[in-house]
Amino acid sequence: MANDPLAALDLIAERRLAYAKAAADERDFGAAAELCEQALERAPRWAAAWFALGEAREQLGDLGAAAQAFRMSLAADPADAQGAMARLALIGQADAPGALPQAYVARLFDDYAPRFDKHLVEKLGYRAPALIAEALSAVAPGRRFALGVDLGCGTGLMGEALRGRVGRLTGVDLSAAMIAKARERGAYDRLIAGEATALLTRERRETFDLIVAADMLVYIGDLAPLFAAVAAALTAGGLFAFSVETCADHGFRLEPTMRFRHSRAYIETVAREVSCRPLLIQSASTRREAGAGVPGLICVFEKS
Ligand SMILES: C[S@@+](CC[C@H](N)C(=O)[O-])C[C@H]1O[C@@H](n2cnc3c(N)ncnc32)[C@H](O)[C@@H]1O
Repeated sequence: MANDPLAALDLIAERRLAYAKAAADERDFGAAAELCEQALERAPRWAAAWFALGEAREQLGDLGAAAQAFRMSLAADPADAQGAMARLALIGQADAPGALPQAYVARLFDDYAPRFDKHLVEKLGYRAPALIAEALSAVAPGRRFALGVDLGCGTGLMGEALRGRVGRLTGVDLSAAMIAKARERGAYDRLIAGEATALLTRERRETFDLIVAADMLVYIGDLAPLFAAVAAALTAGGLFAFSVETCADHGFRLEPTMRFRHSRAYIETVAREVSCRPLLIQSASTRREAGAGVPGLICVFEKS
């Protein structure tokens, strides 16, 4: 694990950090910060310990010191697998990033993959794939698509919801573990571990007549690059169907849950700028958070 910035390579430091996390779980953030500092004496460039120190200091209300620790975490791990830049933004010490780091998303979902379906569907009442499939039926009843791509396909719930309606379906996801689950589900003709905008940019222009993204845009704030890539990859008359979670502000906002929310006006503007017209924009909650439905939209746009 010599190249893993989250590994300490020092058993005593690792033990200190484990104790720090236990103290933080018991909400003893003073002890947690002290134990992180002890870990860092032995492993001064350990991104995981700097990050945990940032979290403890944030809880103690010392935002300047928390920011310093998050910055050290970022310096030790520039790929930012823990989302230190976003945490800096959330405590008002940096501008919000345009998207969560790819390393952060990949790690989050590599960890989540084994329990994703059960947790999301059974506990959080997740239903974005079903709502997107219904929206497609409403705007294009009976339409069969030749070539589709599912952005952030995860374990393949969206692919399953589209079964029988797409001639050849590609799934792309940053998390290799989610891709492995999608492969087991068997709803895709092609699966790619990679980033969605990058994949669309690599594909020939005007290739797909359907692009879907279920609960994936919440990991991207600035949607302009993705929408430009979607519009370039869609055939004329091709559809882009997706879910978002919404905020009242104009634009987008990073939430403490480390997910972005977007306003309806922002979505409409970004789509218009790439010549996509709305066929359906419907208020819908796709999952629960702390027992309540999260406000959101199901959207279908058509490339003009
Ligand atoms: C909440 S899950 C939803 C999975 C699936 N679409 C579903 O509805 O069950 C979000 C997925 O998007 C993937 N993801 C997030 N940002 C991505 C990006 N920029 N490129 C590719 N995949 C991404 C994550 O790895 C994760 O598997």
